[in-house]
Amino acid sequence: MFEIREKEYLADGICIMEIYAPRIAHAALPGQFVIVRADERGERIPLTIADYDSNRGTITLVTQTIGYSTRKICSFEVGEALRDVAGPLGHPSAFVGEPLEELRGRRYLFVAGGVGTAPVYPHVKWLHEHGIEADVIIGAKNSSMLIYTDEMRAVAGELFIATDDGSAGFGGLVTDVVKELVEVQGRRYDECIAIGPMIMMKFVSLTTAKYDLKTTVSLNALMVDGTGMCGACRVSVGGKTLFTCVDGPEFDAHKVDFDEAMRRQSMFREQEQLANGRPMHKECNCF
Ligand code: NAD
Ligand code: FES
Repeated sequence: MFEIREKEYLADGICIMEIYAPRIAHAALPGQFVIVRADERGERIPLTIADYDSNRGTITLVTQTIGYSTRKICSFEVGEALRDVAGPLGHPSAFVGEPLEELRGRRYLFVAGGVGTAPVYPHVKWLHEHGIEADVIIGAKNSSMLIYTDEMRAVAGELFIATDDGSAGFGGLVTDVVKELVEVQGRRYDECIAIGPMIMMKFVSLTTAKYDLKTTVSLNALMVDGTGMCGACRVSVGGKTLFTCVDGPEFDAHKVDFDEAMRRQSMFREQEQLANGRPMHKECNCF
């Protein structure tokens, strides 16, 4: 059992929880994820680790209530415990294993979209702690859906905010900001790392391909076992079938078949909608 030590809502339907999981907190690195089951009958939900603190023995998870199981996870309160939190899973971001002298000469651009902003944070924080300042673009639908801006400002080189409706920062999509920085301002980056909705990662990838800018994305495929056995999370990368859970979750964006990944991601939409229609029983915390 994994006790919830802190919980709050960052924005409408976006919940942040600090969970006591000392072994995961000790081993976690940027880019890795956990698979959560709210209770013994719960669906397995992969969530990218948004922060970890080995001194407190906690990990931070940010969950958007988009379906039956994410609503259930977010219904837990401080002092209650999630049934399973398995991890850290997946490979850490590639830069974690690279020589610091090389990293210090490199310019990174992070593109964070919506809830995907939370998993970008440990990357930028890790780089900052190792003396590397990365630029970050955060995109959200509007100012009330922006998350992690203060935390990110504290660790980023420069922070650029974009909202679809122009209610904060630049009015437009994250890809418009990428174009502004690279094409208009002539900034040079060695690598772009984008995390957010699949459609955003697809269009960031198409944009950066024009600049020949190496780009990495973190794919949030559907998962079941998280061990490479079931095949649920398969994606096509460079014409090869890979498993997001054991080969990823980070991949070379310019090789990912995003259209197939989006089709697979929406495979159970009908069942999700049906489950979403069911009311939750407050007294027993089930649906
Ligand atoms: P959103 O729909 O509000 O989009 C966030 C930003 O992405 C937008 O503000 C815009 O700047 C950009 N964007 C969206 N569509 C775009 C397009 N066609 N071209 C260019 N830029 C575009 O984001 P949200 O509602 O927070 O997203 C939720 C989704 O993110 C969920 O599907 C969730 O599964 C996914 N997610 C992914 C990860 C991951 O690891 N990849 C992590 C958390 C959440
Ligand atoms: Fe089963 Fe990845 S979740 S192979």
